[in-house]
Amino acid sequence: MRPAPPPQTYRVKSFGCQMNVYDGERMAELLASQGIRPASEGEEADLVVLNTCHIREKAAEKVYSDIGRITKEWRRDDGSAPLIAVAGCVAQAEGEEIMARAPAVSMVVGPQAYHRLPQMIEEATHGRRSVDTDMPAETKFDTLPARRSVGPSAFLTVQEGCDKFCTYCVVPYTRGAEISRPFADLVAEAQRLVEAGAREITLLGQNVNAWRDEAERGLEKLVEALAAIPQLARIRYTTSHPNDMTDGLIEAHRDVAKLMPFLHLPVQSGNDRVLKAMNRSHTVESYLRVLDQVRAVRPDIALSGDFIVGFPGETDAEFEDTLKLVERVGYAQCFSFKYSPRPGTPAATMEGQVPMAVMDERLQRLQAALQRSSLAFNQASVGRRCAVLVERRGRHEGQWLGKSPWLQSVHFTADVAIGDLVEVELIEAGPNSLAGRLI
Ligand code: SAH
Ligand code: SF4
Ligand code: F3S
Repeated sequence: MRPAPPPQTYRVKSFGCQMNVYDGERMAELLASQGIRPASEGEEADLVVLNTCHIREKAAEKVYSDIGRITKEWRRDDGSAPLIAVAGCVAQAEGEEIMARAPAVSMVVGPQAYHRLPQMIEEATHGRRSVDTDMPAETKFDTLPARRSVGPSAFLTVQEGCDKFCTYCVVPYTRGAEISRPFADLVAEAQRLVEAGAREITLLGQNVNAWRDEAERGLEKLVEALAAIPQLARIRYTTSHPNDMTDGLIEAHRDVAKLMPFLHLPVQSGNDRVLKAMNRSHTVESYLRVLDQVRAVRPDIALSGDFIVGFPGETDAEFEDTLKLVERVGYAQCFSFKYSPRPGTPAATMEGQVPMAVMDERLQRLQAALQRSSLAFNQASVGRRCAVLVERRGRHEGQWLGKSPWLQSVHFTADVAIGDLVEVELIEAGPNSLAGRLI
């Protein structure tokens, strides 16, 4: 690798989950604190950070095609190319392989080590490549610069890692063991986010409801503390595991007005044999019991989930159970995926891998059912009046987009500004969004 001049501009591209979005924002702030500025639209950056996702094969392979494209398209007249850093979960899982397969990459940094990027960039300017996939005891959060400007809806990672080891999933390997960030740090960061313009904060974690403070208090204590910040209007959290839904957190949906009526609680399958093979440690019944408890305290709660079709050994009848569960729950919005075998996970070598054509057909049927469910949920909202947090401009002149309390996208035409919380009547529904009228 040739020595390169210190980068003047950067671009961070994040893939995967919201925690990666959060990490991408923090990396951008770190680079800015080093005097590197964000490349403007259309301008090629001196440093490109690919913040990658390893959850499914397609996501993981994307990084190699991106690297190829960057080096080919962006090679300059003098033969130089931008510095490339690979961050995120592919970096963690395939660090050495990336170095071997992609000579254009000069830095590989895992999700727990990216606070060390400045030193790695320094190395790269001397022509030295580096890999850092440590999960150090000193956490990145302690060493990152403070948050500055954010949009009206901001993310705050409160918990990282996973100890659940579902048999299909790479997250316990790429993100490490479950850790909770300290209560006081989180309240302080939330305060800074609000000062920087946030009106809504979404608390993030791979198992966010497993968050505990030093005194073993659960997520509801953090929610209560943040609700006391006057300028903060809304609190959300994601992603939760069914087994970590405590009574305290469920009751917060009744007691804390700023906690929005939305719960993302992945179930993955509607069949107990499949759930067991997935090592999900909950059953269909225990999952439904949690939903009943939540609905009892918050009848209008919008429910969401994740599904996998074609897990090894899944029969037609077992898949039908998933469709039945979807009918029964009445989800507001969901994510659904074809099973993707991941290297090193137990399910990848299980017998009964399901052919792609079967998975395609199951996914289509599931997604059609989920679309119907979302449409029904949205149609039932027509006529409701609610607060909408304005997040961005719409495609048409004078049109704005925002979110309802139930996380529905609402578009309407009015004279408002980003960050306003306005009263809207919901007047028309589609499966993915609603039209509203300012009251
Ligand atoms: N911690 C969360 C989310 C983890 S990843 C949870 O426990 O639900 C987000 C979603 O990706 C998962 O909920 C699952 O539906 C999906 N997923 C994870 N591994 C997968 C795999 N190997 N193939 C297909 N989908 C997968
Ligand atoms: Fe993956 Fe399961 Fe952990 Fe979720 S709970 S991150 S699906 S291992
Ligand atoms: Fe992907 Fe890592 Fe998130 S694998 S889904 S970026 S935790």
